[in-house]
Amino acid sequence: MTATNTPTPRVALVTGTSSGIGEAVVKKFCELGHQVLAVDFNPAGKAVAEAAGAAFFQADLTDADACHAAVDDAIKRFGGVDILVNNAGIQHVAPIEEFPEQKWRQIIDLMLTAPFLLTQAAWPSMREKGWGRIINVASVHAQVASPGKSAYISAKHGMIGLTKTAALEGGDQGITANAICPAYVKTPLVDNQIADQAKMHGMEEQEVIEKIMLKNAAVKRLIDPSEVAEMVAYLSSDLAGAVTGSSWNIDLGWTAQ
Ligand SMILES: NC(=O)c1ccc[n+]([C@@H]2O[C@H](COP(=O)([O-])OP(=O)(O)OC[C@H]3O[C@@H](n4cnc5c(N)ncnc54)[C@H](O)[C@@H]3O)[C@@H](O)[C@H]2O)c1
Repeated sequence: MTATNTPTPRVALVTGTSSGIGEAVVKKFCELGHQVLAVDFNPAGKAVAEAAGAAFFQADLTDADACHAAVDDAIKRFGGVDILVNNAGIQHVAPIEEFPEQKWRQIIDLMLTAPFLLTQAAWPSMREKGWGRIINVASVHAQVASPGKSAYISAKHGMIGLTKTAALEGGDQGITANAICPAYVKTPLVDNQIADQAKMHGMEEQEVIEKIMLKNAAVKRLIDPSEVAEMVAYLSSDLAGAVTGSSWNIDLGWTAQ
């Protein structure tokens, strides 16, 4: 099959869409002419989705039934799921000794178990069409660790394992699976960390960005969510049919050293 640059309209389910990377992906997919179901637990996501031209489904993805309900909703509205973008995520920073078990479980449920359940639920629809794209928004923290982020880093490392397994199982069914590994992206998730660290270290916010967040970066700036959305768009296109099981860094050169 010859792939072209003209995007084929698809049905996409994107999670974590009320802000940041998920919002940018929803916008990009709508621009490409895809039918999009935006899934988020924050009711504010409805207006964000509708402004882009997407449908919205409110779900707390730490709940297994809600994961199934989200996929069922996409199938009911649009007849299936061709593209699944597992993006919803949260962060909690504390040393292992003090890390609350409840936070650990919440992070693993949202950022590892939900992507598994959504993949499982969307799989039959992709298999029947002989075409599917799974894009897992992981992190530079899927490849390297930092202190204080044990649950996040464990979930993201696990996500790479899930991605590789899905790629192997989907290879003869037209289903590809890839992970994206960004360094710091300018989103509310990072804005909160900048504010917290500024307080913690008695620094200006700009100083936190330059001295802490961009210390390991070759390119000294934060990433824009739209830059991640472009990579998602490529990986979910016909053009990327030969790309599977891989992790795509968009990390300002963070992991080059
Ligand atoms: N911002 C970064 O620097 C960065 C870097 C690497 C990876 N990431 C990853 O990118 C993804 C998106 O993060 P972001 O930076 O855009 O953050 P964000 O806070 O802007 O977006 C996260 C979204 O997830 C949603 N969400 C949170 N808990 C949920 C739940 N229980 N059920 C459903 N939705 C829920 C939030 O409402 C929000 O819309 C995350 O997986 C994050 O780990 C972010």
